[in-house]
Amino acid sequence: TAQDAAPLPEPVQLPTARPAGCPFDPPGELAGLRAQQPLSRMLYPDGHVGWLATSHSAVRALAADPRFSSRYELLHSPFPGLEMAEMPPAPIGDLTGIDPPDHTRYRRLLTGRFTVRRMRELTARVEQITAEHLDAMERQGPPVDLVKAYAHPVPALMICELLGVPSCDREVFQRHAATLSGLDATQDEQFAAYSTLQDVVHELVLAKRADPTDDLLSDLTTSDLTDTELAGIGTFLLAAGLDTTANMIGLGTFALLSNPGQAAALRSEPGLADQAVEELLRYLSIAHTGARAALEDVELDGQLIRAGETVTISVQAANRDPDRFADPDTLDLHRKATGHLSFGHGIHQCLGQQLARVEMRVALPALFARFPTLRLAVPPEEVPLRADMNIHGVHRLPVTWDEA
Ligand code: HEM
Repeated sequence: TAQDAAPLPEPVQLPTARPAGCPFDPPGELAGLRAQQPLSRMLYPDGHVGWLATSHSAVRALAADPRFSSRYELLHSPFPGLEMAEMPPAPIGDLTGIDPPDHTRYRRLLTGRFTVRRMRELTARVEQITAEHLDAMERQGPPVDLVKAYAHPVPALMICELLGVPSCDREVFQRHAATLSGLDATQDEQFAAYSTLQDVVHELVLAKRADPTDDLLSDLTTSDLTDTELAGIGTFLLAAGLDTTANMIGLGTFALLSNPGQAAALRSEPGLADQAVEELLRYLSIAHTGARAALEDVELDGQLIRAGETVTISVQAANRDPDRFADPDTLDLHRKATGHLSFGHGIHQCLGQQLARVEMRVALPALFARFPTLRLAVPPEEVPLRADMNIHGVHRLPVTWDEA
């Protein structure tokens, strides 16, 4: 067997430290591991010995393989500080932590609501919301925190729009959503915000049942989902779509400001937006790490993964694999970055990716067009990064520009 052929190497720990002075690059050790072998033995913080996948082909194969489970309670956490005897199962409505057939049931109900066509229809609203926020930034004058003024509220309002949160409730909704992803919030405050949001969404579900409107939650009240399931799904959609898109806009702007040639290309070539967004998704890999547990013994890339072992999926290593993308550490908006794994792969591939794309394709070019002299208002090393968090990004992005 593969096990006899190759002696087991020493397990490594998950590299988490990004190189000093380059907030966009993954931890340097990942490239070394990937060059040695696509699958490394990995020691987990709780003592479990499992695996770490770093090549594009291994990550892709794992994410699409039904012999691996996504159920949280079967996984060992790869992140230090989160080690616990057993991870709790996914809360109701959380699609990423469940397997078929439960997953299939939810996914079938939701897929039709997130098609390219449906999301394109939202483009006009995204344009309107971004323009309103750019107007407000202009009125306020420089410097502003781009996260607070733009990167966070635009996706937050789009989720409100999609779910059908009435305008009178949006402020409450926004406030709790901001606490959920905020730098200054304690973990207890974040848990409290999630549970308040669940209550808010639950109320909303009851209101939509009584008086349906043209939105996702109203649509879903005609399915066989219970109110608790609907509230869970609504809250999960909010959580899944907020930090991610907000950090792509925040960190994406930071990356463009750090690569002025690329920012200039985005400004001068309006047709570049779609490609630029794919490249930013690849280069930044904000959802940097995933995990799966083997349900049976699996042979992959000459290694034997035993039933019960956790495999950590390094999306950021896969997206910088030189076998898949030439010159992978360079941000090049002109490259064809399709095939990146930033939205995952297989049955759990991001449900909201078309919405996220519409938001980024509108928000990034509009920002750079509105402020031709946009630049950081602090030295780059003073931008507070979301170090060690599940979703990479910036907590704040102070920017400035020359007023006309
Ligand atoms: C799943 C990334 C935006 C909803 C995922 C996964 C990734 C991801 C990597 C797969 C997780 C896994 O395999 O375990 C991103 C990124 C985004 C983004 C980088 C922004 C740029 C959104 C938005 C929404 C959304 C806007 C909703 C409105 C979801 C949902 C899932 C998911 C519901 C679970 C799908 C499933 O398990 O079947 N996302 N996402 N995401 N995402 Fe996103």
